Amino acid sequence: MNALAGRLKEAAARYESEIFEHYRHLHSHPELSGQEVETSRYIEKQLTSWGIQLQHLDMDSGVAGVLKGSKEGPCVGLRADMDALPVLEESDCPFPSQRPGVMHACGHDLHMACLLGAAHILADLREEIAGSVKFIFQPAEEMYNGSAMMIEHGVLEHPKVDAIFGLHSYPDLPVGRVAVRQGPMMAAVNNFIIRIRGRGGHGGLPHLAKDPIVCAAAVITALQTIVSRLTDAQDALVVSVCSIRGGEEMRANIIPEEVTMAGTVRAFDQALCRQVEEHIRFLAESTAHAYGCRAEVQYQYDLMPTINSDQLYPIALEAVQSLELQISNPKPSTGGEDFSFFTEKVPCFFYWLGTGNRQAGCSYPWHSSKFRVDPAALPLGAQVYAASALQYLNQWAKTE
Ligand code: NI
Repeated sequence: MNALAGRLKEAAARYESEIFEHYRHLHSHPELSGQEVETSRYIEKQLTSWGIQLQHLDMDSGVAGVLKGSKEGPCVGLRADMDALPVLEESDCPFPSQRPGVMHACGHDLHMACLLGAAHILADLREEIAGSVKFIFQPAEEMYNGSAMMIEHGVLEHPKVDAIFGLHSYPDLPVGRVAVRQGPMMAAVNNFIIRIRGRGGHGGLPHLAKDPIVCAAAVITALQTIVSRLTDAQDALVVSVCSIRGGEEMRANIIPEEVTMAGTVRAFDQALCRQVEEHIRFLAESTAHAYGCRAEVQYQYDLMPTINSDQLYPIALEAVQSLELQISNPKPSTGGEDFSFFTEKVPCFFYWLGTGNRQAGCSYPWHSSKFRVDPAALPLGAQVYAASALQYLNQWAKTE
């Protein structure tokens, strides 16, 4: 362990109970996407108490704080998301949500507590920092629009942010392990709606109707061939139809006019997403035609994939190695992350922080009502954030 990593570890141990207090407070006071107002005030209060300047963004929720080092250098961003989910908490956390039906079921409370820990640790080291660190607390990740909103409100300017590191809790990795991956981490998210119009009629006289239900069944079956027959087996792809609606509930003898269905597409490659859009349109429209119906397809590109920057990979690896944490390289996730909006603008790197502990009941998946992180991960996350920032700034200072 190098001297700097040793000091980070020591500082994280010194602030461990403070970081835990942030986590306890944030976990028991969750706020939904776009409504993280009290959470924002809480964070602002902490940052300013350590002499970190707030950047005025003119947003209801979301906070950016800038720590200026004593020497010139680039600006590195550290990002945590802030929102909770509309889930009724059923975890055995000793300090559960005080807002019934709202729960930090994705670990964003942990991300914020870790980033607050890193902010305090780095504020103490300001004399040694060449450049600046921007602490980005981002609202509305679950709605996939918080990072884009922050970018619109200028979070990447004043000072201009040169790189961003982010992390996410990961219940499948035990505490003490960190996923440091090259390339894709999280998938692109595309969503689609297919509306099939036929001609309604009597269930006993189907030959007089154009049955959109039979047509919809054929469309769903046809869509399965996108993954199994139209895409290279080496390319990861998911196409799921997740809802279907047609006819009056429990009416056995009326053929409806129309069936609608909605689904999602996940991939790690935008070009593949565009191909899938074409396949869905072609299969839905031509199948509908064959059944005497008409299909209308709406296709939306909601999120880009989150791809880790090749340039930041060695820096991230070095940062985590210096802390003597165990490095993992799990498969990328077909979940989505709106961190990807940042990756479009500046080099970015995203970690998964092990928060799992099977014995302690901390292994439920993201968004489960029983989701829980092992708080032992808190000081480790703070160190990963702080070490990434310092590693980036030091690297830059060396090459200047
Ligand atoms: Ni999340």
